[in-house]
Amino acid sequence: MKVVITGAAGQISYSLVPFLCQQGVFKSNEKIDLALVEIPSAMERLNGFVKELEDSAYSTVNSISTFDNIQDAVIDADWCLLVGSIPRGIVLNGKEIKERSDLLQINGGIFTEQGKAIGEKAKQSCKILVVGNPANTNALIGYSNSPNKNQFWMAMTMLDALRAKAQLSIKLNCHVDDIYRLAVFGNHSPTMFPDLENTNINGQNAYDLINNHSWVENEYLPRIQQRGAEIIKARGASSASSAARAACDTVKAVEHPTRSGDVFNAAILSDGAYGMPEGIFSGFPLISDGNGDIEIVRDFSLSDFAKNKLEITANELLEERNFIKELI
Ligand SMILES: NC(=O)c1ccc[n+]([C@@H]2O[C@H](COP(=O)([O-])OP(=O)(O)OC[C@H]3O[C@@H](n4cnc5c(N)ncnc54)[C@H](O)[C@@H]3O)[C@@H](O)[C@H]2O)c1
Repeated sequence: MKVVITGAAGQISYSLVPFLCQQGVFKSNEKIDLALVEIPSAMERLNGFVKELEDSAYSTVNSISTFDNIQDAVIDADWCLLVGSIPRGIVLNGKEIKERSDLLQINGGIFTEQGKAIGEKAKQSCKILVVGNPANTNALIGYSNSPNKNQFWMAMTMLDALRAKAQLSIKLNCHVDDIYRLAVFGNHSPTMFPDLENTNINGQNAYDLINNHSWVENEYLPRIQQRGAEIIKARGASSASSAARAACDTVKAVEHPTRSGDVFNAAILSDGAYGMPEGIFSGFPLISDGNGDIEIVRDFSLSDFAKNKLEITANELLEERNFIKELI
């Protein structure tokens, strides 16, 4: 079981790798070969992390290797977790990268190369989860540049779904595990749409239990959509522990069958489901059979309010695709 992680010396990976090394994340009992990838200037920091991983003496781990290039790292990979990317605000060649369009272009270069390498060298059955932002469009670039269309590409929306569940559980005073069928549609950005109209709590409809559309529209949605920014403001850094937990949860959700009556969340290539345009990576409610088959759950009913929100997030994804059209 070979698991590749890029951005391995970054803050998300510092939590993510230990999560992945816990028993029961992967379905297979094969021991894990970790392939940790960084840019050359971060290799020393990565080597420090490797020492800590060695000292953790995980019984699930067979080997730990480090790479400063993606091509060698992804040979025969079963999973690629693409966490590394260039953050907004970094200064490159004397210019601060502030605009989404610039960010898309710079990260576009990274994901073009990674997509090609994964398609050429990783296993046919390889699963790829893009965490690095802008995650949906990075996934589109990676997928489009991969010569292998059988591998399964996703972008992470699990963190948005966990945030949406946590805030709902606080509002309704229920446990997060009692929440079923909570889907996050669209982009991993402030336009995302967490839908409550199809969500159940112990068999009762969440939207009916709340019985207050104004709270959903004016308090709940903005709170989930702006949660990332709220954490950056408070911590001075973007969410890392929760993002790592969400990435590990996505791996688990794909590796094991979805519990009956529930869904899990990730952004995958749209086939037009729920009116999301084909050829973009959008968040959808998904189910896994635990044997590599992942499907969109298609029986959610969307109100006009929900349809309008889906259109907003779809338009943003189309606009992002337009910024990088020459890369795909
Ligand atoms: N999808 C989500 O829900 C979600 C949530 C939180 C953060 N994120 C994103 O995840 C990414 C990583 O966050 P972080 O806090 O760990 O950032 P970080 O800056 O701490 O770490 C990123 C690491 O990636 C490395 N890197 C950059 N380019 C690389 C490349 N081409 N190959 C390999 N490594 C490379 C950097 O050297 C750095 O060590 C960011 O883009 C962040 O915005 C996504």
